[in-house]
Amino acid sequence: MTAIIPIEMWPDRLERAIKDRTLLKRVFVLRQTQSTQDAAKRMNATAGDVLVAWRQTAGRGRLGRAWADSGEDGAAITIVLRIQDNRQTLAIACAVGAARAVEMLLQRTVGIKWPNDIIVYDRKLTGILIEQHVNLTLIGIGLNVRQQEWPEELADRAISLAQAGSMVDRVDVIAALLACVDDALQLNQTQLVEEFAKRDVLRGTRTTFRTDEREISGVVLQVDPLRGLAVQTDRGEVWLDAATTSVVPPNS
Ligand code: BTN
Repeated sequence: MTAIIPIEMWPDRLERAIKDRTLLKRVFVLRQTQSTQDAAKRMNATAGDVLVAWRQTAGRGRLGRAWADSGEDGAAITIVLRIQDNRQTLAIACAVGAARAVEMLLQRTVGIKWPNDIIVYDRKLTGILIEQHVNLTLIGIGLNVRQQEWPEELADRAISLAQAGSMVDRVDVIAALLACVDDALQLNQTQLVEEFAKRDVLRGTRTTFRTDEREISGVVLQVDPLRGLAVQTDRGEVWLDAATTSVVPPNS
């Protein structure tokens, strides 16, 4: 395995990674924090700020779930942007950006599961949590980098870059993510739909979603940057919101 790049080198590496980027302006490297999302709020971060943690101990996932502490094996990032008009477009852009970064690192195509999980070999490699805070949007990205084993509850659901065959240092993973997400946020809606569709692991499948305490089953049609995910149910077409929808795993 290659030598680990120490935390002291992260600020310089990451500042170089965001230099000349459109939306990203400053990087803060935290040695340890509970959640980079909360750190952004506490530090009164402003649009263009990026917070990364060497270690995140109590990360939050979507819809009230936890994001496991991965010690020094994962990447935990929060990108702060001005509040975005369209949440669906933003969710799709973040998914596309993260997918492109992982593809660059793994040299293979990956899947996206609505709204923005990155899937490799049928397992989750990356999760994204998008929150609004005052007049800001906080894009939280968690990516499994070096894990070789998992707690029992994640064992058949999670995968790391190392397990998928790429031994990249965490700081290089973060640099790739920042560049690719910044690029994806510049894509127009037609490009985003196209980029999402070619990686969409649910498209054409019969899937059950949980949204606003209801379950909805149907055949997944396509994403729409304004309306979310279109699903053909027995009662007609419905649109599912990126912020409030999750996939119900089969057999649950
Ligand atoms: C999910 O799949 O449920 C989303 C997981 C998002 C985890 C990231 S890690 C960095 C940022 N800080 C957090 O507390 N959560 C997000």
